[in-house]
Amino acid sequence: PKVAVIIVAAGSGQRLGYGLPKAQVPLGGRTILEYALQGAVESGVADRICVAVPAGDTALRAICARFHSPVPISTVDGGASRSESVRRALAGIGGGPGGVLVHDAARALTPPEVFRRVARALAGGASAVVPAVAVVDTIKTAAPSGPDQQQIAAEKVAGTPDRSLLRAVQTPQGFDAATLAEAHRNAAGLDPDGITDDAMLLETIGQEVFLVNGSPLSLKITSPLDLVVAEALLAGQQP
Ligand code: C5P
Repeated sequence: PKVAVIIVAAGSGQRLGYGLPKAQVPLGGRTILEYALQGAVESGVADRICVAVPAGDTALRAICARFHSPVPISTVDGGASRSESVRRALAGIGGGPGGVLVHDAARALTPPEVFRRVARALAGGASAVVPAVAVVDTIKTAAPSGPDQQQIAAEKVAGTPDRSLLRAVQTPQGFDAATLAEAHRNAAGLDPDGITDDAMLLETIGQEVFLVNGSPLSLKITSPLDLVVAEALLAGQQP
């Protein structure tokens, strides 16, 4: 079964330092949004696509309108947080039964196979599916250092989670659409900036979230360095 695909592209892109909404930043002679749309379309899993763009934006809307796609692409105004943008796009896809994939435009080079892998696990009966990769760094939790330690450093280590249990999660994240909509309704009281992905909302209502293999190509283009890496990947060079 086909799924609706939401692409959240309403971020400001401040950390990229381009003075443009991130999804509009040039990449490989096109824009970040066009690569994200291409992955979703090429995967063949989408029956419709809804893109959340910055409120009042016309350039990204125009890109969506002229993008060559066999399935309809609609746009909605995004919100002040990623989760608000997802909520608005969920309204934009018009509800109904079935699955929905939520994808960050910033993960512009996500291979179509990852979309298919997530959609297959959804079709297999999961209510929530997340692509993930192993973590290469040792991750530590941080805490403020004591008042008499401030001259050494502002923070100190609070703990070291077992790396073998950690996964870095990516998008597209796949959900039963009705379950995701309910999870977002329940999230109304949470700090929107603390909601960094959709799966965490399902976790808070006790839903099982399944992990499938993500891809190193699904890097989230956030900093100028990431853009250099993405350009090199497109040029077929090893970064
Ligand atoms: O800000 P962050 O890097 O977590 O953004 C992840 C994705 O969410 C990006 O593709 C960005 O465009 C999108 N986003 C959004 N609306 C916001 C903030 C972020 O659609 N208000």
